Amino acid sequence: MENYIKIEFPSKSCNEAFARAAAGAFAAQLDITVEELADIKTSVSEAVTNAIIHGYSGMRGIVEMRCKISGQTVEIVVSDKGCGIADVPLAMQPLYSDSKDDERSGMGFTVMQSFMDTLKVESEVGVGTTVTMTKKVGASFEN
Ligand SMILES: Nc1ncnc2c1ncn2[C@@H]1O[C@H](COP(=O)(O)OP(=O)(O)O)[C@@H](O)[C@H]1O
Ligand SMILES: [Mg+2]
Repeated sequence: MENYIKIEFPSKSCNEAFARAAAGAFAAQLDITVEELADIKTSVSEAVTNAIIHGYSGMRGIVEMRCKISGQTVEIVVSDKGCGIADVPLAMQPLYSDSKDDERSGMGFTVMQSFMDTLKVESEVGVGTTVTMTKKVGASFEN
C-alpha cells in the first residue's frame, strides 16, 4: 500500500492531541497491532511536543507533520522552523533536557528511538528541526 497525509498547524499545545490522533488514524489503515499503534502515537506526541515547546518555546510558529505508508512501513516526519538544536547527539542522549521544568524528563528522543525502528534528527540553529522516524508494522500478522 502507498499513501500519505500532510498537515500543518500552529504551535498550540492543544494541537498535540490532534496530531497524535491523526497519525494513529492514518496508520490504522494498515494491519497493525494495538501496541504498534500506541508506540507510533506516543512517538508523534513526543516529536510534536518538542517542536511546540522547544522549537518555538512559547512563540507562534507552524508545525508540519507528514505521514507516509509504503508497504507495511509507516514514516512520520515532524518539522518546525524554530530555534534549532546546536548539538544534536547531546540532545538525543537519555535524560538530557535543556529545560528545568519537572515535566520534561529528557527522555523524548529515547522514547522515539525505542518505540520506532529508525529515528533521524536534522537541525540547524535558527532554521529549525526535522525529525524523521519509521516503523515496520504488522509482522505478527504474517504467516
Ligand atoms: N524541535 C526542537 N527544537 C529545538 N530543540 C529541541 C527540539 N526537540 C528537542 N530539542 C532539544 O533536545 C532536548 C531533548 O529533547 P527530549 O529528549 O524530548 O527531552 P525533553 O523534551 O524532556 O527536554 C530538549 O531539551 C531540547 O533542548
Ligand atoms: Mg521532549
